[in-house]
Amino acid sequence: MAETFNLRINGAARQVVGDPDMPLLYALRGPLGLLGAKYGCGSEQCGSCSVLLDGERAFSCKITLAQAAASDILTIEGIGTEGNLHPLQSAFMEEHAFQCGYCTPGLIVTAKALLDQNPDPDDAAIATALRDNLCRCGSHGRVIAAVKRAAKELAP
Ligand code: FES
Ligand code: FES
Repeated sequence: MAETFNLRINGAARQVVGDPDMPLLYALRGPLGLLGAKYGCGSEQCGSCSVLLDGERAFSCKITLAQAAASDILTIEGIGTEGNLHPLQSAFMEEHAFQCGYCTPGLIVTAKALLDQNPDPDDAAIATALRDNLCRCGSHGRVIAAVKRAAKELAP
């Protein structure tokens, strides 16, 4: 049975009505109109649906609306704006770290969680953090370069 959930998304209060067991991704891309997180595999295998819950990466294709309601939710729409990109977003552009871009929102939010916890990751740390984010266009080498560029940009 549908219930009303009060969510905190990208720093704003949002209300959504839905089945408690509905994947968060469906609420984001449906009634909430946040289209950045993408449906890829639907089974925690590709990372295209990644969002942050209380700063930790979560697969929104699996986490339910009821589970997500307990946390602060951050989606790609909450990371920078078109006129004021987050350093990760500008670094992805400067390093040409995408082709079709389907995986990119998931990669950027996951990389943000990494840099928030480890501001100076080496290649191995970046690869480990992003190991569950697949890119069918083969951009991973450029993604690692972009994350390192953003880390430099964000360094005090
Ligand atoms: S769609 Fe969620 S991990 Fe692939
Ligand atoms: S840029 Fe196309 S899937 Fe990654």
